[in-house]
Amino acid sequence: MKQIIMDVDPGIDDSLAILLALRSEKLNVLGITTVSGNVELHQATKNALKAVQMSGKRTPVYKGAELPLVKSYVDATDTHGKDGLGETFYQDIILEHENKHAVDYLIETMNKNPNGVEIVALGPLTNIATAIQKDRTFAGNVKGIVLMGGSARYPGNCSPVAEYNFWVDPHAAQIVFQSGIRITMVGLDVTHKIIFTPNLREIVRQFKTQISQYVYDITQFYVDFHWKQEKTIGCVINDPLAIAYLISPEIMVTKYGYVEVETVGIAIGQSVVEFTKHRTNIEVCMEVNTESFFKVFLHNLFPENIREID
Ligand code: BDR
Ligand code: CA
Repeated sequence: MKQIIMDVDPGIDDSLAILLALRSEKLNVLGITTVSGNVELHQATKNALKAVQMSGKRTPVYKGAELPLVKSYVDATDTHGKDGLGETFYQDIILEHENKHAVDYLIETMNKNPNGVEIVALGPLTNIATAIQKDRTFAGNVKGIVLMGGSARYPGNCSPVAEYNFWVDPHAAQIVFQSGIRITMVGLDVTHKIIFTPNLREIVRQFKTQISQYVYDITQFYVDFHWKQEKTIGCVINDPLAIAYLISPEIMVTKYGYVEVETVGIAIGQSVVEFTKHRTNIEVCMEVNTESFFKVFLHNLFPENIREID
């Protein structure tokens, strides 16, 4: 079983990723750390607790950074709704977050388990960059980071060249890439292909479980947004792909490269990826088998129901 910590900004697709990770038998999620991103920290933390509650587990949740390192904070409530969960405004969250700060939790856990725990980062990289800066042993003790963010060849979703997670805190992203930690980048090159179509949503709705209703409800706003914004039918669910990669790495083709993240000017937040043999600091996911992704996604979320229609 892989030991992981999830660093998230839920977010509709982060919530799906949390559910996928907590329901997988191949992953042991030790803890979840939150960061301001799609919605501000307090709401992101509530949404993480809601996803944990839906999973039936009691995974601890730690609140982290409220603001990016340097740049002013910009949320993504236009994409994820005012509450970050497609304006479902859940009032039934009974779980509570831990008192320890996310950055201290990350540092303590990595230093207690040198090279034993991977981080899956699905939001702006503020918590991880802060941990790198705060504790000199931290980076050397992280087994690896699988992150959703950036892109190598695909255009940006926040500016012509920048992806949201890197664009929100480009300084943090640059610190993480310069840290020497082994990084796998699951960027827009592959995630833009993961479209949760109306057909799939309807299949999920008909499973008629609490989780299926939750997945259906929180994705409605996302579907409407994608239609208004780019006339896509269905919604792109980026973050679960990083989890699916940990569960089944064979669903993607990766390539070694070197990346830096731009921290100034019109290209701020852009990940510039060079594919060269001379230097590498990253493994970039370049191709994905979307059918295999959805198999992993549905089999883990709905093991009983999916067997019936397989
Ligand atoms: C990323 O930005 C957020 O809106 C999503 O949760 C995902 O992590 C995609 O660019
Ligand atoms: Ca996210």
